[in-house]
Amino acid sequence: MKKDSAKSRHIEKLTRLDVDGKLRKKILRFCRLKAGDIWIDPNGKHKVGVLDATNSDDTKKIFKNHKAQLVINDPPYNVVVGNNNTQNLSKVDVGKYIEFSKKWVSNVLSILDENAALYIWIGADQNDGFQPLPEFMIMMRGFEVLKTRSFITMRNQRGYGTQKNWMSVRQELLYYTKGSPPFKVVYTEIPKILGGYYKEVNGELTDNFKRSKSEFIRPGNVWVDVQQVFYRMEENVAGTYAQKPLKAVQRIIEASSKENDLVADFFCHSGVTLLASEQLERKCYTMEIDPVFAELAIRRLEHYRKTGKTGWQWNNPFPELN
Ligand SMILES: C[S@@+](CC[C@H](N)C(=O)[O-])C[C@H]1O[C@@H](n2cnc3c(N)ncnc32)[C@H](O)[C@@H]1O
Repeated sequence: MKKDSAKSRHIEKLTRLDVDGKLRKKILRFCRLKAGDIWIDPNGKHKVGVLDATNSDDTKKIFKNHKAQLVINDPPYNVVVGNNNTQNLSKVDVGKYIEFSKKWVSNVLSILDENAALYIWIGADQNDGFQPLPEFMIMMRGFEVLKTRSFITMRNQRGYGTQKNWMSVRQELLYYTKGSPPFKVVYTEIPKILGGYYKEVNGELTDNFKRSKSEFIRPGNVWVDVQQVFYRMEENVAGTYAQKPLKAVQRIIEASSKENDLVADFFCHSGVTLLASEQLERKCYTMEIDPVFAELAIRRLEHYRKTGKTGWQWNNPFPELN
């Protein structure tokens, strides 16, 4: 989840599009795609479809006979924070959620290359039996062609539940592989959050930061060096509610794919996988059920190609609204 509205004059110029029905209706007029349509990149690289990730015909429609070497999916988590039970962010019985998940995972398998990686962003509701994470993990064991590789946790800066509990700042990321895809070690900046581990060097007590020779380390499966997106960052896309940081998605793409590979994302939203693929010379095919978010993602790519900017910060991606 990201951002509360700012109190300064740099307030986001567009509210969350999933909670403001009137605004949504206005914006729909400016969306070039309707359900079933696919935008084909004039540069011949990417595709964005207003399609349903659970529908196998929709999957065939966009992928045709192309296979993806990497899939990065960020489905709705079935975790509702506050009162935001909207059409995009609703909570259902966990059994239903698993049925929904099985369908899109089957569709992912239908387009996965022989050697491919699959990353899935997912949540665990600490106020409700930690669902859907354990059910999801067990469901995934049924897809025997997939091997579990890593259970990554990214640390968010903001969270929920601070009054009588530990603030929940975890963002879970599951990593699976099919066959034997490449994995490139992408060194990360050393997270300077824990000093300590003192040692005497030339009579002086030094901590581990002082002793380290490099600014970088091999990446582990707990990421604490990624800034959660908020309205002051260039990459911010006003109107979205679940934007993942580019840095995290770039890291995944660099580690688990090669230039010109096809990267897929079945839940496009702000178009983060699309943009990171553009930046790193990959192709991206992405689906989004909501034409408003599909439009935002296409605009974000176009805006990047025109200006080199990764988002609009607090500004409005739909200037025609004014
Ligand atoms: C958690 S968000 C993805 C966030 C994205 N990774 C980002 O960083 O911007 C989930 C998105 O999936 C879309 N969605 C929900 N159900 C879908 C479905 N059946 N098929 C395709 N998209 C769906 C929602 O509209 C929402 O935009």
